[in-house]
Parts: sequence; C-alpha cells; structure tokens
Amino acid sequence: MAKKVDYLIIGSGIAGLSFAIKAAEKGTVAIVTKKERAESNTNYAQGGIAAVMNKTDSVEDHKNDTLIAGAGLCDEDIVDIVVNEGPIRVRELIEMGAHFTREEGKLHLGREGGHSANRIVHAADATGYEVERTLLSNVANHPNIEIFEHHFALELITDHHLGRHITRLSPDITCYGAYVFDENDNSIETVLAKATLLATGGAGQVYLHSTNPGIATGDGVAMAYRAKARIANMEFVQFHPTSLYHPEANSFLISEAVRGEGGILLNKGGDRFMPSYDEREELAPRDIVARAIDDQLKQRGDDYVYLDISHRNKDDIIHHFPTIYKTCLKFGIDMTTDPIPVVPAAHYQCGGVLTDPYGRTTIRGLYASGEVACTGLHGANRLASNSLLEALVFSHRAEAKALEYRNESMWNESVPDWDDSGTARPQEWVLISHNREELRRVMWNYVGIVRSSLRLDRAFRRTHLLFEETENYYRRSAISAGLCELRNMIAVAYLIIRSAQMRRESRGLHYMLDYKELVEAERRPTFV
Ligand code: FAD
Ligand code: SIN
Repeated sequence: MAKKVDYLIIGSGIAGLSFAIKAAEKGTVAIVTKKERAESNTNYAQGGIAAVMNKTDSVEDHKNDTLIAGAGLCDEDIVDIVVNEGPIRVRELIEMGAHFTREEGKLHLGREGGHSANRIVHAADATGYEVERTLLSNVANHPNIEIFEHHFALELITDHHLGRHITRLSPDITCYGAYVFDENDNSIETVLAKATLLATGGAGQVYLHSTNPGIATGDGVAMAYRAKARIANMEFVQFHPTSLYHPEANSFLISEAVRGEGGILLNKGGDRFMPSYDEREELAPRDIVARAIDDQLKQRGDDYVYLDISHRNKDDIIHHFPTIYKTCLKFGIDMTTDPIPVVPAAHYQCGGVLTDPYGRTTIRGLYASGEVACTGLHGANRLASNSLLEALVFSHRAEAKALEYRNESMWNESVPDWDDSGTARPQEWVLISHNREELRRVMWNYVGIVRSSLRLDRAFRRTHLLFEETENYYRRSAISAGLCELRNMIAVAYLIIRSAQMRRESRGLHYMLDYKELVEAERRPTFV
C-alpha cells in the first residue's frame, strides 16, 4: 500500500532539513535519505556562509561580488533576493542553536576569494557539521517528521506513470511523489505526496577527483531530467583550487579560508605564481585560481602545487583550522611549519533543475532547493560560501509556495506500484564498478577545467556507449542503489557534456581552448 504524506523531501542536507522544519508546522513530512541522515555535502562544508552581518559591509557589495564571480550570467533579481534575505535566514539558524565562531561576543567574519569584505559566518573550519547538527537536532522527535535512512529515491512519479504520453514540451506535468527503494529490505515503496522537494545536492562524484562525499551522484538532476523538468547551465562545474594531494586523502578540501587568512600558492619550484595571473592574487574567484594552478601543472609537468600558511602564527592557524590541521597531520603534513601539497578537484554544480524565485520547478508540485537547483544566483561561477546561503533562502521561499499548493491538491490514488517483473538480481557488480570508474575518468580527462570541442566530442561518444550498456543492464536487473547511481551519473555527465558543447565561448567555469573569448551573443543560460 502506498505511503501518503503532505510533503515528501528527498535529501537530508541543509536544503531538505531547513524546509522540513518549517513545513512540519503545517503538515506531515517524510524525509527520505539514501545513507545515514547526516551524510551530505552540507556535513563537510568548511569555510562558512556568506552574509552581510555588520554595518561595515553592505548588501550592494555582496551583490556586486556575486555578479562579478557569475561572469554576466547571474539573474540580478535572484541575487537581490539572496543577499537581502540571507542575513535573516542566518539569524534563524543561530536562534535554532547553531554556534558560530565569535570573538569578543561578536560573530567572527572570515574572508574568501572574490569577496570584497569579511562576511563569512563560520564555525571554525567545520561550519557544515555545525549546521547539520543544529538542523538534525531541530528535526529529531518532531511529531510531524519521519526520516527514512537508507531509502533511495528512484524516480519521481508523474503523469507518465499514469499512462499519459509526455514530452519535454507537454504542459501541466504534475509530480505525485516518488518511488523509493528501501535498502534495508530491498523493497520499493510508492510514496504519494501533495508536494515534493528535491534536495539531493550535487554531482561531484561524476569526476575522478572530487571534494564531495560518495552521496553526490546527481540523482536529483537525473530524476528531474527523466521526468521532463527543465535543466539549466550544467556546463558550469566548479573545481575547487585546493584539495589535499595525497593518495589516501580522498581529495580532502583545504578551505579557501586558508587563503583568506593569508595562505599563498607556490609552484613546486617555490615560486609564488598567482600575482602574474590576477591582481586579486590568491583571493581571485575560484575559476581563475583553479585555471592558474592547472596552467602551472601543465607548464612544469608537476603533480601538485603548494599552499603555504606557515608564515602565520602557529596558535592562530590551529585555532582557525583545527580540522584541516588535524587531517593534514594524519597524512604527515604539519601546516604550521610546512606547505601543503594541493590540486584542484570537482567541487560544486552551478547548474541544475531550473527553479523560479519560489523554488518551483517546471513540473507542478515539484520544488527544488540547494545544490540540485539552478536558481540563477551563481550564473557561470559560484562565489565562495554562497551555496549554504542559497539553500536556506530558497527552502524558506519554496516552503511558503508549497503550502499554498498543498492546500489545493490531493493524493493521486491511481498511481500504480513499481513494476519490476522480468528482472533478476544483478550478478556482475564488476560491470557497475568498472563503468562508474570509466565515466569518472572520461569526465576528468575530457570535461575538466580546460575543455576543447575535440575532448567534448570524445567524451560524448564514450559516455553514449556507457549509457547504452548500462540501460540494457538496468532493464534486465533488479534494483540496486549502485546501479541506479551509475545510471544517474551517466545522465548528469550527458547533460554536462551537451551543455558544454552548446556554449561556444569561454565564460566563468567553462573554459574552451577553441573558443577562448567571452561572446556577448552567448550570454544566456543553457537549457538541454
Ligand atoms: P547535500 O547537503 O549534499 O544533501 C543532499 C542529500 O540528499 C543527502 O542527504 C543525500 O544522501 C541525499 N540524496 C541524494 N540523492 C538521493 C536519493 N536518490 N535518494 C535519497 N536521498 C538522496 N558551501 C558553502 O556555502 N560554504 C562552504 O564553506 C562550503 N564548503 C564545502 C566544503 C566541501 C568539502 C563540500 C563538498 C562542499 C562545500 N560547500 C560549501 C558546498 C555546500 O556544502 C553544498 O552545496 C550544500 O551543502 C548542498 O546542500 P544540499 O542540501 O543541497 O545537499
Ligand atoms: C571552502 O571552505 O573553501 C569551501 C567554500 C565553498 O565551497 O563555498
């Protein structure tokens, strides 16, 4: 029998949980999350939340910095909304119990690349952990909220499942909930909801090297794409300039805040190189710093560059960066005395499921917030620490609209259960793991920081082959989370490659060797 709730939330990071807390005041909420509840990108966020929190800073400056980073593609109205409403949402988080770093009673505001002022609210270098802890403690034991761990959302339920033929041009596609795979007993449940929120985060795992945890496989974008929602700006993948270079460190992030506190970048020969690439030096926006590092590595044939903050006072370093300090020590690097070897890694998806200023997607009853959404805030490149902020602002706005929608909609009782007849257990796990690895390599090598038409065409051909093999395998196999993730990653890779092929210029995070210039006629979002 189908489960019925007022709100179905897919994902338990900042976007899902902050929506849940507000929605639960008005109706029943089910949160499905594919691993343990805290496992999310949110939990690993380091630097902080960008917001104008004192009188020496201004929302105009925050807006301006966001627009500059976004390289002409931000939606100005959306930027206005976020910089103006952001501080209220951050204060709410503090009222819910978040402990951010203070000095002499006042919030300590950090600095990151592209910001013209100190405006990063943070909890030392583990801001995401504090945010996730706060939100989960507010959700815990709420009578209207149920969290289902190890529950993997497979597909959004739409008119397609009721037998209607729909295309990307069909008007009035409606979302009625989702089919969810319960990994605890391998069953597939039908969850009917009056309103559904996609809060599934990003897709860093599509690349071989990524700062993102394993959950970031782009499931939300892939599901929404299959459901025929509009997807935008997928070519803009942000590579963080500084992840720890160590075979066992899993691309552990070295926060941009380290550069904000005076860290400098040196090549392996010991020369500082950022001043020759940009007048903002180490605090230039991320696309510029990542490309400069890539250029140094290619010119010199090195595997990494150094990030050095050892000239700063030892106690200050440990005070500001306790997590980074301890993690580096674990790998034999003492950042108070030695430079840290770093390389860029895939970090953030600027594009995603297209939403309006209220988090509404192009499918009725389906909302999106957080990294899965493309709100128009980031344009061609996200300004540091703007994403936690974006999630807070749009989950709040979406919740208000979802309430109106919920009040006038009913569960659709004619939705059929999931049909898995004709499938058998997957026998060959190696096919899934091999194809996943191959896809991640293709994306890293051909669709990375620097692209070309030749590399993109190659990536497209390889990905298409992986798509055909995996779809064939999927049709014959019983559901497993691994297989569904692979399928979703291939869909996201396809969207990134196709969007990149469509943009014949270099803008923000999308840098093409054969179209090196910015082209005014190309200044528009990309829709696949
Ligand atoms: P997430 O926090 O990623 O949550 C997604 C949730 O969806 C997870 O619970 C996941 O399990 C679940 N999920 C996914 N697919 C499914 C499925 N099919 N079924 C069920 N559940 C599913 N941003 C900043 O603004 N400031 C920072 O300092 C900062 N630092 C960062 C540091 C690191 C190392 C990383 C990786 C990112 C950082 N970011 C930072 C980016 C920011 O953390 C993310 O963009 C943000 O947390 C995304 O929140 P979210 O709620 O959209 O998604
Ligand atoms: C960082 O701490 O460098 C990450 C900040 C972000 O991704 O916004």
